[in-house]
This record gives sequence, structure tokens and C-alpha cells, in this order.
Amino acid sequence: MSLHIGDTAPDFTADSTIGEISLHEWAGDSWVFFFSHPADFTPVCTTEMGRTAQLADQFAARNTKPLGLSTDTAAEHLKWISDVNETQHTSLQFPIVADPDLKIAKLYDMIHPEESETAAVRSVFIIDPDKKLRLTMTYPMNVGRNFDEILRVIDALQLSDAKNIATPADWNPGKKVIIPPSIKNDEAKTLFPQGWDELRPYLRLTDVT
Ligand code: BEZ
Repeated sequence: MSLHIGDTAPDFTADSTIGEISLHEWAGDSWVFFFSHPADFTPVCTTEMGRTAQLADQFAARNTKPLGLSTDTAAEHLKWISDVNETQHTSLQFPIVADPDLKIAKLYDMIHPEESETAAVRSVFIIDPDKKLRLTMTYPMNVGRNFDEILRVIDALQLSDAKNIATPADWNPGKKVIIPPSIKNDEAKTLFPQGWDELRPYLRLTDVT
């Protein structure tokens, strides 16, 4: 199934390292960072799981729950978590979904046959509290994800929702943001009383806090 930004994240019920979970119910009013892995007990995946666990406070500060998935069983995930904790010096607390029959991997288009017929690629889905997909990214099996970027896009999405703005290339919190062209200058004066730099009529930069 091909999923697009703005689609409702398909709900599912599955076994996980914290027992059976249903995605929408488990997510509640939080954002979700849902990310898939090819397999347990593999090196790149081990570092990614460890990094996610190390960043638990960062995700919590963004009201975001991490949710992992690989195409192994919950019993295998639980054994693997010991290795993750030991080698990555952390304490992994977020759930990892079991998907040995590839039901969810297929639902979320995580199987890319040129990479593997049976294991998920490294997919990322950022899901908002309305259960809408707000961002998707797909990495091959041999490239670990950049977790600074994952936190950055969550910041950008949450700020754009709160302040009606867009973010420029390489934006990071604290940097200037863009007033979208859909907001004309008359409305912008109300929304952005702090003013803006108008480099072009379509390129207006402002500061928000
Ligand atoms: C890894 O996590 O290291 C990995 C898994 C599957 C294929 C290639 C790398």
C-alpha cells in the first residue's frame, strides 16, 4: 500500500515488546515516530535502537512516542534489547512491534523487494495526534538514520502548526522562518506584528519564538 503525507496512518493491532498494542489507541494525544528495521541482532539497527533510547527525553519534550518495528517476534526483540542496552549504554523503554508475518510491513509499504523480499527497509513515519501522516522517509538497509534530522523535522512540523509558518533549508530551532505565500501582507501584519524581511514578495523571513 502506498501511503502519502496527509493520509490517516493505517491502524493495526499487533504483538510488541509491551504486549498487544493498537496503534491509534496507544498513540493517544501524542505524536508518533514510527520506524522500521530490517532485523533484530544486526549492527546498524542496534545503533539506531540505542540512539532512539538515548534520546527518550528529547522525544518526550516533543510529546512524541517512538515506536519501532522489525519483522521478527516480540520474544526475539526482547532478547535483542539486552544487547542494545549493553552495547549502546542505554535503557530502551519504547515498544518494538513484532511483525514476523510482514502484515504491517506490507500495510506501510516497508518491503522493497530489490532490498529484501522478507525484511523491512528503514522507513520513518511521523504521525500527528490526529493520526495523520506528516512526514515519510525511506532509507536503505545499509544507511543508518540521522536522529538530529528526525528531531528537527518534528520541531519544524510542530512550529509550522503552531505559528502558520514554513521553514527554510537547513532550518533549526531559533533560526528565521518563512511566511508562506498563501498569507498576504495584510494578514501577515496581524499574524507577525514583529515584522519581516522581504527579500522578494514571495520570500519573507521572520522571527518567531
Ligand atoms: C544492519 O542493521 O546492520 C543491517 C541489516 C540488514 C541489512 C544490512 C544491514
